[in-house]
Amino acid sequence: SKIFLDFLPAYRVGVKLCETSNHEEMEEEIAKGCDVVYIETPTNPTLKIIDIRRICVAAKRAGAIVIADNTFASPINQNPIQLGADLVIHSATKFLCGHSDAMGGLLAGKKELVKKVFQFREINGASLQADPAYLIARGMKTLELRLERQNASALKIAQYLQSHSKVSEVFYPGLENHPGHAIAKEQMRGFGGVLSFSLDGNYEMVKKFLKKLELVHLAASLGSVGTLAGPPRTTSHVELTEAQRQMLGIPESLIRYSVGIENVEDLLEDLEQALAAL
Ligand SMILES: Cc1ncc(COP(=O)(O)O)c(C=O)c1O
Repeated sequence: SKIFLDFLPAYRVGVKLCETSNHEEMEEEIAKGCDVVYIETPTNPTLKIIDIRRICVAAKRAGAIVIADNTFASPINQNPIQLGADLVIHSATKFLCGHSDAMGGLLAGKKELVKKVFQFREINGASLQADPAYLIARGMKTLELRLERQNASALKIAQYLQSHSKVSEVFYPGLENHPGHAIAKEQMRGFGGVLSFSLDGNYEMVKKFLKKLELVHLAASLGSVGTLAGPPRTTSHVELTEAQRQMLGIPESLIRYSVGIENVEDLLEDLEQALAAL
């Protein structure tokens, strides 16, 4: 978010943020004219779903290209280029690497567009070194296997959390009552390994809960073989002000939970004991 809220405006790039659960509003904004429509679906951290095909149609009509951040879904679960996007980006640090031990980024799409970025990157830095490139390439060999487990476990965990009295809201597109469930079913093969939920309480309760988790690493990342959890307030969205987080619909008591490949019964037991301690 900081790139769009602070950095791009500093380069005199006009940015208009849209509420991603309102497709009509997005279409209206796109029709006013723009060069790039940048989307992320499911979104970080509240897993909102954007209809990729619909937004690509609106962008094409306005002569804009579409860039889709596919990090949360992974290429196993979703392929935005097949739905009309021009470029797809991934934080390869996450599911592609899969082991939280290398950082990198990946861009895929139309050759002439990728070439432009490749040349810019060549001169401006951000080239991947051989060691992380090797770890990411090796991690990708097990991507499908990991995602199969992570999709299944995340759904079970989301369903469990939804029925718990100390959890006020669960955000996971695989849940039938998720507002984006129908679109997610259309455009995704699986709903991914990341979910988020808010506790029925304040940030102090979140801190207490996280301390009680025994099988989970508290970290800002996601997409690893090991389950990772953290409050967006002090991890992924720490750079934003409270007002900006409010604007993006990020509750104070939100916890992002990235499911690993551990036995799901163990993870459920761990959540149960941590919630019971509140
Ligand atoms: C959806 C999404 N895209 C991009 C990034 C940026 O990743 P990196 O730090 O590997 O550049 C993140 C990191 O959290 C992310 O969650």
